[in-house]
Amino acid sequence: MIDIRGLTIIFNAGTSDERSAISNLSLSVPKGQWISVIGSNGSGKTTLLNAIAGSVPVASGTITLDGRNRAGEPEFRRARIVGRVRQDPTAGTAPDMTVMDNLALASRKGPRRLLPAKPAGLKRRLRDRLSELGMGLEDRCEENVARLSGGQRQALALLMAAMTEPAVMLLDEHTAALDPRNADIVMDLTRRFVREYGLTALMVTHDMRRALADGDRLVMMHEGAIVADLAGDDKKGATVQRLVRLFREVRGEEYAEDRDLLS
Ligand SMILES: Nc1ncnc2c1ncn2[C@@H]1O[C@H](COP(=O)(O)OP(=O)(O)OP(=O)(O)O)[C@@H](O)[C@H]1O
Ligand SMILES: [Mg+2]
Repeated sequence: MIDIRGLTIIFNAGTSDERSAISNLSLSVPKGQWISVIGSNGSGKTTLLNAIAGSVPVASGTITLDGRNRAGEPEFRRARIVGRVRQDPTAGTAPDMTVMDNLALASRKGPRRLLPAKPAGLKRRLRDRLSELGMGLEDRCEENVARLSGGQRQALALLMAAMTEPAVMLLDEHTAALDPRNADIVMDLTRRFVREYGLTALMVTHDMRRALADGDRLVMMHEGAIVADLAGDDKKGATVQRLVRLFREVRGEEYAEDRDLLS
């Protein structure tokens, strides 16, 4: 579903601020696979997701999504096949629109658009989806999203991104800004949606335990490259200590964020 070959991303090319954020990275992700992405600050995780979504220019390499190289395709064209949830709960929804209008807009976006014959039918279906979140939002359809809590907004953003079954789902530390209880709720929903909708997903997290517990595969990035890639029994048998050790072996240096990653 995702096939990235020789991807290189350079910011401010040709200036004194030139910075290579991704160097010759390749990654192939079969349909329905869920990958946890970990790595130190500035290792290129967000840039990788941005490249897939089309929001940063690619210096070289190919990004094949759903059978087509989209490396040069503008972001708005890819938006139909890429679902995205960011760290900031205010980023994924329109605050001055109602819960229902946000959902209705999202329902028209993805590859599997929800288009019942009558608008009333659509509303009913969207309300049903809302009630599945278990947050009582089905009774707040006509309220503006600005009045929802961070956790509620993030759950709504996740539903909006997932419900039309995007070819690729990108989650960038999407629970990091939430309190532990809401983070757990949003992770439960993530697990459910990824499985229910059979999503191909990349989930960036700083929480090594979460990265080990969730997903089918774990990718570790450092300085714009993938330095470890675990799947199957390798991933099942891995521990946080083992990941930290692995990093030391691969890089021949201390993991700058042991504290962060072990917490
Ligand atoms: N728009 C930009 N212009 C210039 N440099 C950028 C830009 N975006 C990212 N970078 C640089 O690219 C590198 C990778 O950044 P990126 O945001 O992908 O890291 P990250 O792994 O997501 O880090 P974090 O864990 O802190 O979110 C960093 O050195 C960063 O400073
Ligand atoms: Mg980031």
